[in-house]
This record gives sequence, structure tokens and C-alpha cells, in this order.
Amino acid sequence: MSELAQLQPHVLIFPFPAQGHVNSMLKLAELLCLARINITYLVTLNFHDRLLLHTDIKSRFSKYPGFHLKTLPDGIYQGKTNTVDEVMMLYDSLRLVAKPFLRELLSSDQAQSEKSSPITSIIADGILSVALDVAEEMDVPIIYFRTISACGFWAYFCIPQLIDAGEMPFAGKDMDVTIANVTGMERLLRRRDLPSFCRVQDLGSPDFRMVLSETQKSPRAWGLIFNTFEDLEGSTLSHIRKICPNVYTIGPLHAHLKTRIQSPWTSSSNSLWEEDRSCIGWLDQQHSQTVLYVSFGSFTVVTREQLLEFWHGLVNSQVRFLWVIRPDLIPTKNDKERKSTPEELELEEVTKERGYMVGWAPQEDVLSHPAVGGFLTHSGWNSTLESVVEGVPMICWPYFADQQVNSRFVGEVWKLGLDMKDTCDRAIVEKMIRDLMVERKDEFLQRAGEMKKLARKSTEKNGSSFHNLDRLIEGIMTISI
Ligand code: UDX
Repeated sequence: MSELAQLQPHVLIFPFPAQGHVNSMLKLAELLCLARINITYLVTLNFHDRLLLHTDIKSRFSKYPGFHLKTLPDGIYQGKTNTVDEVMMLYDSLRLVAKPFLRELLSSDQAQSEKSSPITSIIADGILSVALDVAEEMDVPIIYFRTISACGFWAYFCIPQLIDAGEMPFAGKDMDVTIANVTGMERLLRRRDLPSFCRVQDLGSPDFRMVLSETQKSPRAWGLIFNTFEDLEGSTLSHIRKICPNVYTIGPLHAHLKTRIQSPWTSSSNSLWEEDRSCIGWLDQQHSQTVLYVSFGSFTVVTREQLLEFWHGLVNSQVRFLWVIRPDLIPTKNDKERKSTPEELELEEVTKERGYMVGWAPQEDVLSHPAVGGFLTHSGWNSTLESVVEGVPMICWPYFADQQVNSRFVGEVWKLGLDMKDTCDRAIVEKMIRDLMVERKDEFLQRAGEMKKLARKSTEKNGSSFHNLDRLIEGIMTISI
């Protein structure tokens, strides 16, 4: 092995195999590649194939000789992940396969090969403590990356306090009762704003135990990385720093990547599904800030009844809309029954007159389009940050996990839009859209414009996220010696 390879840090990056996680950790991988850090990016076989088939991603990463994709072996659940039970099947199978695999990978790597330098540290998804266990066992430094918001993370972390104080379980009842024991959010969160897992009847249920125990292990990692920025979540981060002093806020990652690549026009999208770009042509024909973009992310599912309520609300609002209806948005028993749009919606003239529908959109480009004036979102963390960076106000309809907390912050703390959680009645949808896009349009656009400036400033030279990434790179160098 060359002397240079010996001196170079080599980081194993291990995301949870779900689109939102693989995408954002790939952006982190690219940022580290730009700093000439060698990266081995560990994914399951299905993601490996999707990444290699994606020409943009393939050509982007071919520029980095120190970047390598590696696959975990077979035996990992490969079915749908739309329900909590399905995600748990994936999580359980991953734990079983990953432990012996990581041991083998780290020891064979440490035993040396002529081609590559040994793995000197790990950046693992903060819900994969299997990597933490192996790293500690083999004395390899490990940093955690959480793909969720800091406010979502902190609400998860405080769950034991809620249980001790008798504020949980509440089994989905009296959802407007205020929660007192999430430090720093005392009068802010209601039961309905806690992470969706807190709605369980049984505190012993496997998914609840998993989320709880994974989050509690975070202080064991050498550092904790968040895709967020100080001006947005500084107050929550001050509480997190008391339990994990080494916190690195380096987001919004997609904006940060654009700064570091020094090309404001480069799309940082790592979208693994085919984007229907025809919607950009449709947006080009619309007036400035008049279109509501509607998308519920990569794995939210809705019932047919809920979809129709949204449709009636959208149409009755008179506002123009671009709507992402994924083929699997309404769950079906088998793939043959899958259809992107219910027939009655396609047949209605008013849909064509006022709206445009696609199966998957180039979301970053859509949100930066001048015609877009609002975003009806499920409050996934990536979607929230993409909206913040473009100064687009939001109507939030959270589905699960941290999204319930994110939407409360959008509505009550950051004042970037309206929180519509737990209902999609057509009259309410219509009212919320009219409020965001017509009645209170100026107020929301002004506030979103101010936050957009702060988000962009954070990733520019001398900004907090820019500085924190440099600190992270220094940290990786130090622990790699
Ligand atoms: C979920 C959680 O909600 C999120 O908070 C967590 O961090 C990761 O898992 P997901 O449902 O995938 O994520 O939502 P989100 O985090 O918003 O990510 C969706 C991504 O897909 C965004 O980057 C968005 O730009 C992209 N997208 C979505 C498209 O490119 N096109 C679309 O049509 C819809």
C-alpha cells in the first residue's frame, strides 16, 4: 500500500436502506469526497443497483476516485416499507446480517489489501446501533448521522422522561393535552405533536422499543451530525449538546453541496426514481407564486377517501396545483392493481384545467421554480429543508415519525406555514390553501423569505454549517490517526 493511502482517512458510511436516508447520506459522502476523504458507501443490493443505474449519480461519483460502493449480503428484507411492520422487518433482518458482515469487513480491511487503505472510522445512520456495537468491539471510532430534524430527535430522546412523569402512554386519546416534559418545548407540544410512535397503546411494542432504544444510544457515538442549521434549530441543539457535546450541524445538505461544488445550477438531487420533468414545462406557463405543490414524500400512503378529500379541497380552493401521486400512494394488494391516479380524478375536466399530476417530480427544481408559492407536504425532513431553502411556505399534513414534530415547529415556532395534522377534510383543506396562498400570502412569503436567507447564509463561506463541516473534516482526520 502506498504511503499516501496510509495517511488518508477512510470512512465507512452506512445508511439505513430507505430513500430519505440513502439520499441525504450520499450528499454527506459527496461533501467528504470533495475534501479528499476516501469513502466506502455501504448499501443493500437493491439500492446498489438503483444507484448504479442512475446515470446522474454514476457520473457525479465517477469524479471521486476515493469513492466506492459496497453491498451488504443477501438475506435482508426487500419488500415494501410503507407500514411500521414492514420497516421493522427490514430493521430486524438488517441487524442480523450486518453484525457478522461489519466484523468481517473491518477485520479484513484492517488486515490490509494492496488496493485500499483500511477503514479508519464509521459514519452510521443514527438508528443503526448494530454499527455502534461492532465499532466499539473493534475499537473503530464512530460518528452518528441523524436524517431527522434536531427537534424530532430531541422529542424522541425525552420519551423516557414522559414515561417517568406519567405523560405516556396516552393511547391516542385527548390529543390536545399539552406535554410538560420535553425539555425546552414545555408549552409547545401537544400529544398530537409528539413523534407518531408515541401514540402506541403498548409501551412494549417492538417498533416503539426500537425507536426508544436506538435514540438513547446516541451519546455513545464520538459525534452526532444533523442535516440542519443553527439559525433554525439552535435552541433545541443547545439541549442536545448537553448529552452529546460533539454535535455537527452541516445542513441544509443540498444547499451546502451546491456551495462546495461552486455551482448554483447543479441539482444535488439523488432521487432514485425516474423524475417526470414535464411538470417544469407546465410550471413555466403559470403566473409567479400561484401554484401549490403537493407531495407526500417517498413512503407516505393514503386511503382512497383521503385522496378524494384532498382533491375536492384543492379544486374548491380555486388555486392551481402540481400534485405528485406516486403509483404506490394508495396501497393495493398486488402491483398489478397499482395506478397512479384514481380514474375519477383524471376524467374530471377541472383537474386538467387547474392542476397537473406526475408520479414523481424533480422536487428541488419544482420548489425553486418562480411559479410555486406554497407546498402541501408530509413534513419529511428533507422536504421541509428543501422548502425552507427556496422560501416556500408550507401546509403540513404529517404522516409518521418526526413529521408530527416538524409540522408543529413549521406552524408555531418558525411561522413558515400552517399545521393541518390529523385531518384532511375537504373544507379544511380548502381553507388552509386559501389562507396560505391568498389571504395570508404576503405574511407567509415574507417570513419564508427571511428564513431562506438564513438557510443560504449558513452554507456559505463563514456560515455556521460551512464552518461545522470543516470542523467535522478535522475531527475525522484526528480520529483516523
Ligand atoms: C422520511 C422522513 O419523513 C424524514 O423526516 C426522514 O428524515 C427520512 O425518512 P421521506 O418520506 O422520504 O422521509 O420524506 P423526505 O425526508 O421529505 O424525503 C423525500 C425526498 O424525496 C426529498 O428529498 C424530495 O426532494 C424527494 N422527492 C419527493 C422527489 O425528488 N420527488 C418527488 O416527487 C417527491
